[in-house]
Amino acid sequence: MAEGQIAAVAGDDMVGHLDLFQNLRHLRILPRGRTPQIDLSLARMIPMAPPDATQALKPRPISHRNAPEKTVSQSPPPAPPGASLPAAAISAQGLVKVYRGRLGEKRALNGIDLDIPRGSMFGLLGPNGAGKSTFINILAGLVNKTAGTVRVWDRDIDRDPRGARAAIGVVPQELNIDPFFTPHELLELHAGLYGVPKRERRTAEILTAVGLADKANAYARTLSGGMRRRLLVAKAMVHNPPVLVLDEPTAGVDVELRQQLWAYVRELNRSGVTVILTTHYLEEAEELCDRIAIINKGQLVACDTTPNLISRLDRKDLRITVSEPLETVPEILAAFGASWDPVEKALHFSYRPSEQPIQRLLAAVQAAGLSVTDLSTREADLEDLFLEMTRGN
Ligand SMILES: Nc1ncnc2c1ncn2[C@@H]1O[C@H](COP(=O)(O)OP(=O)(O)OP(=O)(O)O)[C@@H](O)[C@H]1O
Ligand SMILES: [Mg+2]
Repeated sequence: MAEGQIAAVAGDDMVGHLDLFQNLRHLRILPRGRTPQIDLSLARMIPMAPPDATQALKPRPISHRNAPEKTVSQSPPPAPPGASLPAAAISAQGLVKVYRGRLGEKRALNGIDLDIPRGSMFGLLGPNGAGKSTFINILAGLVNKTAGTVRVWDRDIDRDPRGARAAIGVVPQELNIDPFFTPHELLELHAGLYGVPKRERRTAEILTAVGLADKANAYARTLSGGMRRRLLVAKAMVHNPPVLVLDEPTAGVDVELRQQLWAYVRELNRSGVTVILTTHYLEEAEELCDRIAIINKGQLVACDTTPNLISRLDRKDLRITVSEPLETVPEILAAFGASWDPVEKALHFSYRPSEQPIQRLLAAVQAAGLSVTDLSTREADLEDLFLEMTRGN
């Protein structure tokens, strides 16, 4: 939590902030109605922890590189020789979350078992309310789980919450940026909270990488939505975490900046950072992620490599344009489930390649006495898979 930020600490779901409070060196309390902008001198400084408290917060060095490749200067130092790296960046077993409130109970996660391999670019997909943010917020220590175990970079979130938190950087779904800080100040403050020594901070580098160098000294409230989103990515990276989690990071980011953001995230991934992202843009997940999990109603309905997931959907579309005008679909083609598009003068087939070789369809078109002028096929994509897997679940 940043100085000057107003936060509601509610129920058991904001535990992350309490830890940060304990480790703040000072808490600045402002008289009601005053904002830091108006008169900072009215603030009272209350020591909250001994001066060396930031040292206690200093994350243990975390090694997350297993390849000598170095593609970005922002990348963390290489793993010391012989350092053992976890096979799974994240490991969740039997993860359950039940939110309890005035309106009753909501079972947001219903026994999730999920391992996210180290070094992967992992996509977490699911419809609204599926439980994606709940899962991510548990990893980040922002939401308390109800049952199950979670290890982040081999650190159990119950036994070593601080170690687990140091290993992860989270870009939340909400744009929760303190409007009274400049990007430079915000990153410096955040680095301080994580105990990153001044000489090891990379504030300018990170701001440049996310395209905010020219806004380094502008108040965050003057940034556009897309810029704020990129600032959150920068904030998540200040302590060099080996695991970066992005909860719908491109919502509200324009196409060009989205590409820029992904280029940065890809570079981080190439340098060894495990990246987990949730997105509603399925084509984005398909393009970026090497593995994908699909969550629906708090349950894992699929988890596989991206090509395997797509190959599980045994469906293809075939469009054949013919030179003859047709009134109806010839019987021989109707038997294959063909439909006729009079505008494009094309026959449309939806078929299972494993059961119906394309040659059989083409032979049927020929047998119907039609001359093919053009044809195209379309593979099933993640959108199809997603709809199929979440339908009726
Ligand atoms: N603090 C909370 N208290 C009560 N219920 C909650 C709370 N946070 C989330 N939920 C409920 O838990 C379920 C999962 O929510 P979650 O935010 O994890 O979904 P999501 O997959 O991230 O959805 P979206 O794609 O819309 O962001 C939803 O039914 C939601 O209403
Ligand atoms: Mg969400």
